[in-house]
Amino acid sequence: MNTTLFELQGAVAVITLDQPPVNSLGHALRQRIVAALDAALADPAVRAIVLTGKDKAFSASADVSEFGSPLQLAEPLLGQVLARVESCSKPVIAALGGVALGGGLELALACHGRVALDTARLGLPEILLGLIPGAGGTQRLPRLTGMDTALALIQSGQPQSGRQLAESGLLDQVVTEGLMEAAKALALALADQLAKHGTPLPRARDQQLDPASTQALLTRQREKLSPRQQLQPAYTALLDALAAATTPFEEGLKRERELFLRLLNSTPAKALRNQFFAEREAAKLAAALQTNPRFVQTVAVIGAGTMGAGIAICALDAGLNVILLEQDEAALQRGCQRVAEHYRSRVSAGKLKASVAAASEARLNPSTDWAQLCQADLVIEAVFEDLAVKQAVFRQIDLHARMGAVLATNTSYLDVDAIANVTARPQEVLGLHFFSPANVMKLLEVVRGTHTAPDVLATGMALGRTLKKLPVLTGNAFGFIGNRIYNAYRKQCEFMLEDGAWPEDVDRALTDFGFAMGPFAVADLSGLDIAWRMRQAAAASRDPRERYVAILDRLCEQGRLGRKSGAGYYNYEGGKQVKSSDAVVRSLIEQASQQRGLTRRPLGTSEIQRRALLAMVNEAALLLAEGVASRASDIDVVLVQGYGFPRWEGGPVFWARQQDRAALEQDLDGLAEISGPGFVRCAQALTP
Ligand code: NAI
Repeated sequence: MNTTLFELQGAVAVITLDQPPVNSLGHALRQRIVAALDAALADPAVRAIVLTGKDKAFSASADVSEFGSPLQLAEPLLGQVLARVESCSKPVIAALGGVALGGGLELALACHGRVALDTARLGLPEILLGLIPGAGGTQRLPRLTGMDTALALIQSGQPQSGRQLAESGLLDQVVTEGLMEAAKALALALADQLAKHGTPLPRARDQQLDPASTQALLTRQREKLSPRQQLQPAYTALLDALAAATTPFEEGLKRERELFLRLLNSTPAKALRNQFFAEREAAKLAAALQTNPRFVQTVAVIGAGTMGAGIAICALDAGLNVILLEQDEAALQRGCQRVAEHYRSRVSAGKLKASVAAASEARLNPSTDWAQLCQADLVIEAVFEDLAVKQAVFRQIDLHARMGAVLATNTSYLDVDAIANVTARPQEVLGLHFFSPANVMKLLEVVRGTHTAPDVLATGMALGRTLKKLPVLTGNAFGFIGNRIYNAYRKQCEFMLEDGAWPEDVDRALTDFGFAMGPFAVADLSGLDIAWRMRQAAAASRDPRERYVAILDRLCEQGRLGRKSGAGYYNYEGGKQVKSSDAVVRSLIEQASQQRGLTRRPLGTSEIQRRALLAMVNEAALLLAEGVASRASDIDVVLVQGYGFPRWEGGPVFWARQQDRAALEQDLDGLAEISGPGFVRCAQALTP
């Protein structure tokens, strides 16, 4: 850290925040700002002060790693630093060049003026960590911008650019260059007005909001909170804090602080922090596996179906060259249309510049000629989920790919070794399991085969980062991490149908818990026939004693393949689920209960939730015990990012660790009993 407190430029003290990497407002930086202000105030040569950051960051937030630790609560608290800035007798201007997020933006709000580059990114992302701004953000921002803008910025948690915020009232000036000159000029102008006319320094706290219209707006917002937002206390707390912005400033600050501290120790905030760190951790290979990745500039994608086209798009978006290979011209054309349609719709929605889309599309090389593969640094196969087909494709890849190319399969369930072993180079093969839609979903399971070389694995992880994904390492076992846990969960939900619940009971209980969708609605959406085919393929090897629920098979036999056929577990009209329950489905379910000799009984919401979650927890423990998942937190990342597990519940492992240990173990025993043969009860507990 630079030890100079400020640099005198003319009559302006420039205080440069310099706490790599992103000027998080940890204890050390907070102390330094106060010391610099004191020094600048004491220096008669200083008439005004500019606070600025380095290169990319003014300040990217409070220091999340201090959250919940004594350092976060060590003086000077951020709120005290801000009060110090605000009460300075010399004008303090924030010069915002890069990101000003969270506590960083709150610091800027406490200044007497703000100048930003048009490209600066400004935001209050606390809500994404289950919090509200805790250093005056909810009190100062609405006073500067009005309640509408403040609410939108804080409730979305998403940053906006200086350009977007130019007219919002947050910024005094937005410039395309000459940031420091503009900030210093504003600082001196305020100093002049103060000296010549006694004009008080402008402070957000002195502004007033109209109480009646503000409260009316917040009441409307309260009614508009989505069910998922209502499950997260930060959304309601935010409206409470904003409502306090119509009270005297100090009172509002006090209210904000109370709400912030209550949230800080809440389980959702802990879960969200846990995810934040788990995601960072997941993307790193364990030290023993770390090595340099191979160079990848050209990727070949084989199969231009749903997944292949999506993978091609994200590689193009990341600036890579893409060879898209199909088995025939017609399929290739369909794939190319998918890609073209994607870019067309992004451009027409104003989300992408036409020139950027054109540059991406220009890097696409569609082909049916296997010889093209020799140009690829990395090949991703995304053909039908059929071992024989994939093996045939890998034999072709082996013939045509250059030596040293990394060879990946996007299989969801198949054995990566069985695919790798048809090549003469199984050490170059790994799984790269993308999720659908591949250009949207962030999760990427990177599957390590028995022979996968360390640098091949490192290349898979690095590619994930290049594609802006969240890569998670997994061992090569049926369903890897995500599908394996999801299968155990879905199976348990099917047991509950036989035991007495209806699909809508199960789905409602799980959406009430916070899942984006219930398992039967998900099954209908993805199509029941995929699972049906897999069940048929596995029938011969299934243990006859295993508890097997055949409801899905019966539905498929009746042509009820899910949403695409107009009916599955539910009926659909015009693509929308019909609310009323379906007599055919109910009678199929009743028959299934009868055949198993079960007397149906209603299952309550919490019983459904607990059974479904326990099934996940047990499978998570098995995955860890078997070494398929290398870190417990990776499992949480997979379930949250890929399967709609509510982020604020932290994932199955985090959830399990919040439960009473003895009760959890006892309930797992109970679950094993209900589930019968075929359910493997993990002996190893998920201890932290
Ligand atoms: P799809 O049926 O939409 O596309 C497969 C494509 O592969 C077709 O366009 C087909 O013409 C092409 N193809 C088949 N044999 C070929 C060959 N010998 N050479 C070149 N191209 C060939 O299938 P989808 O959904 O894209 O799935 C592909 C793979 O991705 C499967 O392994 C699947 O399990 C996996 N996957 C699918 C997900 C999904 O939600 N659809 C999610 C994650 C993985």
